[in-house]
Amino acid sequence: MIRSVITGSGSALPANCVTNAEMAERVDTSDEWIVERTGIRQRYIAGEGETTSTLATQAARNALENAGVDASEIGLIVLATATPDHTFPATATQVQHALGCGGGVAFDVQAVCSGFLYALATADSMLRTGMATKALVIGAETFSRILDWEDRTTCVLFGDGAGAVVLEARDVEEDGPGILSTKLHADGAHRELLYVDGGPSTTGEVGKLRMKGREVFRHAVVNLADVLREVIGNTGISAEEIDWVVPHQANARILDATARKLNLPAEKVIVTVDKHANTSAASVPLAFDVARRDGRIKQGDLVMFEAMGGGFTWGASLARM
Ligand code: UT7
Repeated sequence: MIRSVITGSGSALPANCVTNAEMAERVDTSDEWIVERTGIRQRYIAGEGETTSTLATQAARNALENAGVDASEIGLIVLATATPDHTFPATATQVQHALGCGGGVAFDVQAVCSGFLYALATADSMLRTGMATKALVIGAETFSRILDWEDRTTCVLFGDGAGAVVLEARDVEEDGPGILSTKLHADGAHRELLYVDGGPSTTGEVGKLRMKGREVFRHAVVNLADVLREVIGNTGISAEEIDWVVPHQANARILDATARKLNLPAEKVIVTVDKHANTSAASVPLAFDVARRDGRIKQGDLVMFEAMGGGFTWGASLARM
């Protein structure tokens, strides 16, 4: 059977790392509050010349090198972002140009923090229907550029970065590698809990991120536990068989609460929120790349990806490495 197999990963972070102590110099907050409520200790913030497309390109190059794939072999780029370089063209086309692999398919997907799950599912479907044989799936963001730096309830939570995977269509056995099952959801009823107060067709300006964190937290734990159960149910694999969970990194307490609901031991959950903060669509592929490169995620492992974000959108995907 044809499955989409992850054959490489890469990531990129801006040069500038900002600690909680430095945040406390800007707004009325403290390292203690941020660590206790979120688990975040630092975040990377893009500087001059660093944009969503430059971070995405660097992550993509690292992923191609890791997979041993030349850019010219890539026929599809799906890039998840809510902070594109420009309103249009799609940031994916700029990454394609920078990589020098023009001519294939390249477009952006906008599902905020669930963007990487949506992009992965889109690329997986396109590979399995033969529209391409090798794809780059990228999550890249510069959320620092849509933050209200006077609002302590949001500005301490987010960071910038990019992660990428190379996905290849392969003819594999039933117990072979590849994406096994994915479920995506959206519910537009909760827009006011997490949104950006601007846009090309409304204010004509980019706008700033607004969030009612406590309410989002409640929805996140319920929705994530439900979608994880759905994916596990689809595959007939028991939760105990999962080797690693690579969640969206919004808050260490959400990761703990979701794992507890499913009886997944905390040691199986990849946590990078302490180092990267919430990088929206970049957080899942960034965390995945960290855990692959430090040797935790190995060939043959069963890995669950999951995310929840603005929209609301949420989803989960189970893959064998
Ligand atoms: O990635 C997309 C999905 N996003 C999420 O999943 C985010 C989900 N939400 C969260 O992670 C948490 O709700 C937050 C980290 C945003 C907030 O944590 P919380 O435990 O829910 O705190 P809270 O909003 O209930 O605020 C508690 C107190 C408030 O003070 P009062 O009203 O109790 O006096 C806030 O004003 O903490 C105050 N507060 C702060 N204090 C110091 C809010 N932000 C800060 C801050 N520093 N940065």
